[in-house]
Amino acid sequence: MNSFEFPGRYYEAMRGGFRDLAGETEFLAAHAPAGGRVLDLGSGTGTNLRALAARGYRGVGVDQSAAFVEYARQAGGAGLAYVHGRAEEFTTEDRFDLVYSLFMTLNYLPRAELRPLLRTVRGLLRPGGKVVLEFGHLLNFVDAYQPYTIAHHRAGELLITRLVRQSINAHAANWRNEETLLVREADGRVAMYDNFFDQAVLTGPEVRELLAEAGLVVTAEYGGFRKEPAPFHGRGPLVLVAAAAEEAAA
Ligand SMILES: C[S@@+](CC[C@H](N)C(=O)[O-])C[C@H]1O[C@@H](n2cnc3c(N)ncnc32)[C@H](O)[C@@H]1O
Repeated sequence: MNSFEFPGRYYEAMRGGFRDLAGETEFLAAHAPAGGRVLDLGSGTGTNLRALAARGYRGVGVDQSAAFVEYARQAGGAGLAYVHGRAEEFTTEDRFDLVYSLFMTLNYLPRAELRPLLRTVRGLLRPGGKVVLEFGHLLNFVDAYQPYTIAHHRAGELLITRLVRQSINAHAANWRNEETLLVREADGRVAMYDNFFDQAVLTGPEVRELLAEAGLVVTAEYGGFRKEPAPFHGRGPLVLVAAAAEEAAA
């Protein structure tokens, strides 16, 4: 079963209910020079990239979901390109003013892949470049834990019902999500999609350490894109801003 292989417009409809796109865009734009080049790791349906392109940024998105990449490509946006593939396998000669990964995408990566990925990210930065990572901290998962949840998302006449089963694989420190999406279109047609994924439980100290090993240092830490204080005792999500260690020290 593949993750996130359902029509991108359903994801967009649900994302709107979960996220503060205006806050994310302000935050990202504050960490890249005007007209700069950005890289979105786990770009999904291209939501953040399109919002940045509307402000004059240019960039590349990488995502493992063929359906989401297809949606993003069709949705357009000046100066944007999308690569279908896994972030940990992404290579390019391109260099970026900002590399970011939002909405827990880091948690989807196999644990062992994080270290090499962050090294790659360091190498992709232009001088003065920044990294913005948002990930779910351990207690974020614990607090949100529900064996079963049902949520409804509406966008106009479209109704999406998510049935989510969560389980914990404590040995691998993984959180397993099995979702069924029931979609009812405006004309009454109904379709069903399965979405299955594991999320690694990460902690702030662990990610800070991996960043340091990659030659990156955390320059700011928040609990959200409106610069909420970083949560006490790691109640997530955590938003880390990092820069090349030698530049941050200079
Ligand atoms: C919760 S969505 C977030 C998407 C986007 N960042 C956003 O904010 O809307 C997680 C995304 O991560 C992608 N993803 C998961 N594992 C990935 C990997 N190893 N490499 C690239 N993309 C990945 C999924 O396909 C999905 O689009």
